[in-house]
Amino acid sequence: MKRLTTIIAAIAMLSGATYAVAELADNYTSYKPTDKANPLDEVISGYEFRIKSTQETQDDDFENPAMLTLDVGLEEWETAAGSEGKSCADCHGDDPMESMKGVGSTYPKFTEEGDHRAFRNIENQINFCRTERMGADALKYDKPEMLGLTIAVRHADRGEPMNVAVDGDAAPFFEQGKDMYYTRYGQLGLSCAHCHEENYGNYIRADHLSQGQTNGFPLYRMKWQGVGSTHRRFSGCMKNIRAVPFSKGEDEFLALELYTSWRGNGLPVETPAVRN
Ligand code: HEC
Ligand code: HEC
Repeated sequence: MKRLTTIIAAIAMLSGATYAVAELADNYTSYKPTDKANPLDEVISGYEFRIKSTQETQDDDFENPAMLTLDVGLEEWETAAGSEGKSCADCHGDDPMESMKGVGSTYPKFTEEGDHRAFRNIENQINFCRTERMGADALKYDKPEMLGLTIAVRHADRGEPMNVAVDGDAAPFFEQGKDMYYTRYGQLGLSCAHCHEENYGNYIRADHLSQGQTNGFPLYRMKWQGVGSTHRRFSGCMKNIRAVPFSKGEDEFLALELYTSWRGNGLPVETPAVRN
């Protein structure tokens, strides 16, 4: 039944018979794209598409359940691990809100040390420090410690504009991500652009479609009853269109993360955001 309604909704959407455009609040905030090549006329956070009570939960750090995951991350930051007996704090200082300023808004990007040059998102960078510099095991994607550290890094840039670079060595990832964004996936044959470019502002079933921006991740999602990563969300969107998702942390999703983040360049980082 769930599948059938999904298909009906998707067909309705493709034939242009979506529900009426829902009102964003009159005073919603939008930003000018920072790059002329951005297909969006205005860049809008997913925050603006959520109902007031959800926004209020995000606005209040004491209400926002993802702040508990930040606490897990701050504890992890100080915890020594691995053969070197070091913690993040030993190398990066006690307060990630200081040392990680200007970092979270620029990922994914290339980072290097010697011959370890690679394109990484924050999660992969954290694991790089763990495996190569601490002699510790990689943390698992979407587990509290990894989510908490990723939130910590990103939170240090809360309010700063998203600012990923797509030139130079990142260009092939950008092109790959762009191709993916417009590729029809799954049994429903829908692309990211169908929902998040052509239909943002419209409803699909009960969901008010946003531009699918990444500026709030990792974030708390009511449906998850928990916190999740950008790649978990990508995965969910692919499953919803009956596609087999790519693997979290691997090149395909890194490329898609770069491309979607670029579409949101200029949007303030909200991490950790709250969504339904
Ligand atoms: C043995 C020292 C060491 C430890 C321990 C360490 N790092 Fe790093 N980390 C580095 C160095 C060196 C760099 C590259 C230079 C820089 O950007 O500071 C780096 C880079 C980073 C960056 C990218 C910064 C940027 O500007 O792009 C992040 C994020 C990061 N580390 C997070 C962590 C986290 C989280 C931990 C704990 C799990 C950790 N690191 C543990 C040494 C360390
Ligand atoms: C059938 C429609 C549909 C397709 C296709 C789709 N999504 Fe989504 N997506 C949604 C819905 C519904 C939500 C939740 C409401 C919202 O924020 O739009 C969502 C949310 C998101 C969010 C979270 C936005 C936020 O602010 O929390 C991201 C990121 C996202 N999608 C990315 C993608 C990417 C990348 C693709 C392509 C692989 C994709 N989506 C394909 C329907 C879709």
